[in-house]
Amino acid sequence: MSISKEIILKANQHVKTHQSLVGSDPYRLHYHLMPTVGLLNDPNGFVFYKGQYHVFYQWNPFVTAHGPKFWGHYVSTDLVHWKEAPAAIAPGDWYDKDGCYSGSAAVLGDTLYLFYTGNVKDEEGNRESYQCLAVSNDGIHFEKKGPIIHVPEGYTAHFRDPKVFLKDEKWYMVLGAQTIEEAGVAVLYSSPDLEEWTFMGTMAGSGYHGLGDLGYMWECPDLVELGGTDILLVCPQGMEPEGFQYQNMFQSGYIAGKVDYIAGEFAHGPFVEMDRGFDFYAPQTMEDPNGRRLLFGWMGNAVESDVQQPTTAFNWIHALTLPRELRWENGKLLQTPVEELKLLRGQETLYKNVNLDDDEQLRFHGQVFEMEMSIDRMEGPKGVTLTIQIGESKLIYNQREGVFTFERKSYYMPNQESRHCYLQELKKIRLFKDTSSIEIFLNDGEEVFTSRVFDDFLMDEVVFETSGEVTMNLQKWDLNRVTSY
Ligand code: FRU
Repeated sequence: MSISKEIILKANQHVKTHQSLVGSDPYRLHYHLMPTVGLLNDPNGFVFYKGQYHVFYQWNPFVTAHGPKFWGHYVSTDLVHWKEAPAAIAPGDWYDKDGCYSGSAAVLGDTLYLFYTGNVKDEEGNRESYQCLAVSNDGIHFEKKGPIIHVPEGYTAHFRDPKVFLKDEKWYMVLGAQTIEEAGVAVLYSSPDLEEWTFMGTMAGSGYHGLGDLGYMWECPDLVELGGTDILLVCPQGMEPEGFQYQNMFQSGYIAGKVDYIAGEFAHGPFVEMDRGFDFYAPQTMEDPNGRRLLFGWMGNAVESDVQQPTTAFNWIHALTLPRELRWENGKLLQTPVEELKLLRGQETLYKNVNLDDDEQLRFHGQVFEMEMSIDRMEGPKGVTLTIQIGESKLIYNQREGVFTFERKSYYMPNQESRHCYLQELKKIRLFKDTSSIEIFLNDGEEVFTSRVFDDFLMDEVVFETSGEVTMNLQKWDLNRVTSY
């Protein structure tokens, strides 16, 4: 048996023996993808293959900390009900002995190709990275083929996260990289057959094409076309906070424009942050058979406070976001939860034409639910402030300042912490609350806040309060549990 097959068996065994502890965690999510045990980070290899959606994820099975990553694996026909498959690839060969890092999938003929970064460290901690290939003909068992790309001259060993896509009958790969001058960049390769790859150069980066300082390393790039616009999703490391923006450890955002695929150049606009919550990173997209551009993100970020997340006591940490659909409208990337999530809906409650004012509140109990609220009118002599308390979190819209705030109880400090964005008008809130997460979509996906929350379960009240008058319609659904433990 190959070393990596042996390691996969060891991981599977570890999962079996630790499952029962995990099952007793009240923070275990009801309809999000999480690892059974260990640490999950980036979504990888999101693809539709032989009638099923596959999503893989960065996984360290043995501890709730970063380390030599495996690719965990989930399979679904409807993006809602997922089956856990055995780990697809495991570290252990000379080119990936310290981790099968992030990457993507592509389908050619009957074969599913996985592209990932082999991470190698020597005793002094020096890094090497190789872009590697693994293939499968059943979508479950993968055979590693080894490195297909070595780091070209001019870049450091921070060269990773291959995202492969087809464009005008040619294959391309976009990678996250660092130049030897220590600028974060995205580089492009092309290939006629997924096996031979030609380097095309840096297509965008920190300090390139009028971008200011966008950090020392770009991770997890993804290049998509929506309605004729090319959008590079990318995760810069090393950006400084600026007003309400870039508040997390590492950022996720996009730059939009037009790629010249012959010259390998990208004429584009500014960097725009994609999610304003505490926990969102390393998103990856795919185009599904219906032509939708779908996205999964890591509902986490690289933070040292990780060790204090309550789920670590139950041997697991982190989850993926809900799958989202991307659209490009009026020069902005919109994100909405995929239609299929309606399958989760149980009991519905309707609050029609509700009028809230300084004395009138609306309240209900709920821990795991979806709600959609549309606002018809907001009026007050000094502008309106709408506050929605959800457990120990708060959503606040200050109409006069045009600021939306999300506030949560910190899990590592004795206080509340908040994130904000400017929003000229609040027309709609769609929100998914799970046992320990909240995803908020404002105005049909114009702004999104994704966060983990670890509230006292006794505090499960949802309370709407205003200063000034608000007329609204509210729909609320209990959501069914689809995760088994
Ligand atoms: C992003 C990242 C990737 C890397 C992976 C390792 O979170 O740092 O750049 O491939 O995680 O797990």
